[in-house]
Amino acid sequence: MNLGTATARANANIAFIKYWGNSDHSLRLPQNPSISMNLEGLFTQTTLTWDEALAQDQLTLNGNAASEAALQRTAQYLNQIRTRYGVQAHAQIESANNFPTGAGIASSASGFAALAVAATAAAGLDLPEHELSALARLGSGSASRSVPSGFVRWQVGQDHASSYADSIAAPNHWELVDLIAIVSQGHKAVGSTEGHALADTSDLQAGRLHHVQARYETCQQAILERDFATFAEVVEQDSNLMHAVMMTSVPPLFYWLPSSIGIMHAVKTWRADGLQVCYTLDAGPNVHCITTAQDAPHVQAKLQTMGGILEIKRANVGGGAQVV
Ligand code: DP6
Repeated sequence: MNLGTATARANANIAFIKYWGNSDHSLRLPQNPSISMNLEGLFTQTTLTWDEALAQDQLTLNGNAASEAALQRTAQYLNQIRTRYGVQAHAQIESANNFPTGAGIASSASGFAALAVAATAAAGLDLPEHELSALARLGSGSASRSVPSGFVRWQVGQDHASSYADSIAAPNHWELVDLIAIVSQGHKAVGSTEGHALADTSDLQAGRLHHVQARYETCQQAILERDFATFAEVVEQDSNLMHAVMMTSVPPLFYWLPSSIGIMHAVKTWRADGLQVCYTLDAGPNVHCITTAQDAPHVQAKLQTMGGILEIKRANVGGGAQVV
């Protein structure tokens, strides 16, 4: 085995059809299929060195020694890579995000996608995309979707090897833009991993899952046909359904802030007035306003007049994870 160093970069992604709930927690096999687009320029860059002289894994996040929790999650993840590919060394990892961690822009998605690509490349492995996607999934479910390029779907699968994401369309297929209204920079109180484990405690999870296959197919078709009206309805409905499950879990998870709801109302009004824009929220209070390149300046100008927004980030459709 040829152990060395590799650097990889992966973009974050925003889910249009949400992943929420697992059928197998340790393998992160999802209860439902999901769809997302990669966010160009909101990325994690990770350099990993396998070093037989190290007694344990070392992790630096954004220039600082990582927390014990982050180090543990990473070391457990690397154990799976070590076991699956016979790597007999610990790793030194330097990882950095260029966006706030833990506030509704999924840093675990870009983080584990970059880590999967860097760790395997540094071990001299040249894996096909579907295997890298499945491997990223073991670290964080949504990370499976940050491996392929552009608009991406993650089908449920039956086991580790068959639960991976692939691209439905390239980044240039449809010029969508995500204007992310940052309403809080804080780290979220309850992370996604705990949230997935609570999904089935909500009576509404079964209802959410009942028609999720239809929403998934509608969303995929709307993307392929660039049908914004259909896309907007299904994306907002799917986000609302996931948050309804979150709010009715035991214990309940409330990610929305008053300013999040204000923006959601405004977005609906702007769409009724003719702008192509819809909202979606992941496990955090920040509102992802999905619009077209044409309407993005108008939506941005309207967002700028609203209170409660700390910052607006803009991302076009991004490519897949890569060794750099
Ligand atoms: C709300 O992929 O972050 O963003 O596998 O436990 O790391 P873990 O969960 P994660 O869950 C993402 C949840 C979501 C919806 C989505 O991205 O599909």
